[in-house]
Amino acid sequence: MAELLEYRFDPDGDTLRRYMASRYRVTFIMGPLGSGKTVASCMRVFTHMTTMTPDAEGIRRSRWVAVRNTYPDLEGTTMKDWMELFGGPELGKLNKDFPPTHHLNFDMDDGTTVKAELVFMALDRPDSVRKLRGLQATGFWLNEVKELEEDIVDMCDLRHGRYPNRKQVGDYWHGMIGDTNAPDDMHWYYRKAEIDKPEGWKFLKQPGGVIQHRTAEGMKWVENPLAENVRNLPKDYYVTGLSGKKESWIKVNLANQYGHIVDGKAIYADEYSDQLHISQYVLQPNIKHGNFYLGIDFGMTPAAVISQEIGGQLRILDELVSEGMGIRTFVRDYLKPFLADRYKDVPLESFDCCCDPSGDDPRDTEGDSPIAILQEEGFNAYAASSNKPQTRWEAVRYFLGRNVGGRPAFLLSPACDMLRKGFNGGYHLRRLQVSGAARFSEQAEKNVFSHVHDACQYMCMAAKGGYNFTSKKPDVTINGQRYTGSAGY
Ligand SMILES: Nc1ncnc2c1ncn2[C@@H]1O[C@H](COP(=O)(O)OP(=O)(O)OP(=O)(O)O)[C@@H](O)[C@H]1O
Ligand SMILES: [Mg+2]
Repeated sequence: MAELLEYRFDPDGDTLRRYMASRYRVTFIMGPLGSGKTVASCMRVFTHMTTMTPDAEGIRRSRWVAVRNTYPDLEGTTMKDWMELFGGPELGKLNKDFPPTHHLNFDMDDGTTVKAELVFMALDRPDSVRKLRGLQATGFWLNEVKELEEDIVDMCDLRHGRYPNRKQVGDYWHGMIGDTNAPDDMHWYYRKAEIDKPEGWKFLKQPGGVIQHRTAEGMKWVENPLAENVRNLPKDYYVTGLSGKKESWIKVNLANQYGHIVDGKAIYADEYSDQLHISQYVLQPNIKHGNFYLGIDFGMTPAAVISQEIGGQLRILDELVSEGMGIRTFVRDYLKPFLADRYKDVPLESFDCCCDPSGDDPRDTEGDSPIAILQEEGFNAYAASSNKPQTRWEAVRYFLGRNVGGRPAFLLSPACDMLRKGFNGGYHLRRLQVSGAARFSEQAEKNVFSHVHDACQYMCMAAKGGYNFTSKKPDVTINGQRYTGSAGY
C-alpha cells in the first residue's frame, strides 16, 4: 500500500491567512522580502487542486498556470519553489518540454484521485499573450505580479474557469492569485489597488518587516512586531537587512511601502511617511461635526483640498485637481457640485476657505479677483496671510510632525492620490545641474503635483489659525440646528 502523505500548512501571519482563505476572483498579496508570499501561493494552488469538485469517476481535474515575466526567473525561482514543496515522485512528474508542465496524479484518502497540471509560462511582453490562446485553465498564479504588464494580467483574467467543463463537474471556484513586492506609485498595480479597486479584486498588504519610528533625532527604522513569517526566517532578518541599504530600497523591500520615482528633493521628505500619515480606509466627512477647511490655489490649474479637524486631528478628505480652466468654471462646474453632493447639508460659508493670495489671473475672471468670485459664489473666502514658501511649508509640517493622543495630527485619505504622490516626492525642489555635491532649487518645481500641494498649504494655514485644542465652538448650522465642533481635547 502506498504511503500516506499529509500536508500541513501553518501560515505565520494574519495577512497570509487571509490570502489563503480568500475566494475573490482575484487576490494579490504585496509584502516585503521573505514574508512567505510564494510558499503561501504554492499552498493555495495545491489546496485548489485537492479540493476541486470531482467528476463522475471521482477525479479532481484542474489546470493551473504559474506565470512569471522571464523564462530564467520562471525556471530559477517559481518552478524551483513549487517543486521543492510538491516535486516528490509520489505526487507526479515534471515534463520539461515547452511549456514545462508538472503533471500531478495521486490518490486522496477519500477515494478520489487528483489529476492536475501546473503549466509554467513566461509572459514578458504584451505579444506573449498569444501563448495563452487555446489554453483552457482553472486558475492562474502570478508570481512577482509587479514584473508583469497590465495587459497580460488582464488577459489572464479572461482565461480562467474554462477547465474543467462545468457540464461535467458543476460550478467551482476559479480565478487568479498573485504575490509581489511593492511596486512604485506610477505602476498599474498601485492604480488598481489604491484608486480603481475593481470589483472582485482583493489587494492584500502585509505589514512591513520594519517600521518607521519617530525619535528626537528624526525617523528611525525598527523591527515591526507585526511582521509576518519571521518564525521561518533567520533571527533578526529584517533589522540585519537594513544595514548599508538606501532609504528608498528599505521602504520598498523591507517596509513594504510603494516606491517613488523622485527626481529632486522631496519637500516633506523628513516629515511625511505613508506608514504614519495615510489612513487605512478612505476617509468620510463627519457632516455634523463641522470644522471643515478648504484650501484653494488659483492660476489656470485651480486646485482645492478639503479637510476636517476632529479631536485635534486634521483629516484630509478630498482633493480636486484641474487643468486649463479658470476659477469661475472650476468653482461652478466642479467644486460646488462636488460639495453639494459629498458635503450635503454643510453650508458653503461654513468652510474656512483660505486662498492663494496672489492668484489674480484676469484671463478668465472678467476683472474680478478670484477671491471676489469665490465670495460671490457663497464662500467665506480670504487670502492666506503669507505667500512665502517657507511659511506655507511650515503650516503643513506643523501637522505632519505632531501627534494628538497617540495618533498623527495629519491623516491623509488614500483617495487623495495626487497629494500622496506629491508628498512622496512628486512635489519637490528641482536638482540643479552643477557639479559637486547635490544642490537644489529654492522654489518647488511647478508640475502636476505642485498646485494641489499649494492648496494643501493654504488649507493647513487656515487650520493652523483655527487650531485650538481647547476650543469649544459651534461650527455649523444644519437645517436651523447648531452643532458643536471639536471640544476640549
Ligand atoms: N509556512 C512555512 N513554514 C516553514 N517555512 C516557511 C513557511 N512559509 C515560508 N517559509 C520559508 O520562509 C522563507 C521565505 O518564504 P517565501 O519565499 O515564500 O517568501 P516571499 O515572500 O516569497 O519572499 P520574496 O519576496 O523574497 O520572494 C523561505 O525560506 C520559505 O521556505
Ligand atoms: Mg517570493
